[in-house]
Amino acid sequence: MTTTSAESIPEIRRSVYEAGELARVDGTMLEIVPHTPHPEDGDALRDLVADCAPAKTIEIGCATGLSTMAIFEGLASAGVAGDHTVVDPYFNGYWGGAAGILMQRAGVRDRVRVDERESVVALAECLARGDVFDFAFVDGCHWFECALIDVCLLCRLVRPGGTIAVDDPWMPAVSDAVSYCTKNLNCELVDVIERNGKPRLTVLRVGEIDKARRWDAYEKFASA
Ligand SMILES: C[S@@+](CC[C@H](N)C(=O)[O-])C[C@H]1O[C@@H](n2cnc3c(N)ncnc32)[C@H](O)[C@@H]1O
Repeated sequence: MTTTSAESIPEIRRSVYEAGELARVDGTMLEIVPHTPHPEDGDALRDLVADCAPAKTIEIGCATGLSTMAIFEGLASAGVAGDHTVVDPYFNGYWGGAAGILMQRAGVRDRVRVDERESVVALAECLARGDVFDFAFVDGCHWFECALIDVCLLCRLVRPGGTIAVDDPWMPAVSDAVSYCTKNLNCELVDVIERNGKPRLTVLRVGEIDKARRWDAYEKFASA
């Protein structure tokens, strides 16, 4: 019997970015641009995960799997094995299981639970189950209502003191969703990581949601 050893995650990430494409399960090729984060933004995500050293992580919007690889690279440098949940309704559909192939290559497939439902459904079920996460990465549907639902549900699912990293805060729909949480749900804005003068990743520290808020408590949040 032959055993295949896992490839190094930095090498997988480097080679995929260099090739600009990766294979789906059916052998067709998937171009990574414009879907996937820029390599430097992936590095920022990796470094953030390494700093947080989270035991339990969740990611909304996996697409190519390069963000997943960045998360596992960060976990490895923190010495954490990883217990990761991926939520993406098109994981095996449009994306053709390409991310699953990367996970196999990296030897982490058995540490990832893939939920192929919309995040609103998957996250609500996590809540119903009583799941708790230490770190979340949000890069799913970018419509305002989706971004808002994702960050609001994650404010309940990530433990107080845990971290939510939100991709693409240069988009008003995303930054407004984040603002709702900082103004109303006791989330702290810890950092906004920029590249070329444009905000790429917002880092939030989750706070205890005030369940004793007045019934009409509401802080206006939208930037425009
Ligand atoms: C910008 S891409 C994510 C890129 C990914 N992080 C990567 O490294 O390649 C947005 C992702 O959100 C997913 N998505 C779209 N609607 C969604 C929903 N309702 N719930 C969860 N994910 C969704 C898409 O399938 C896609 O994979």
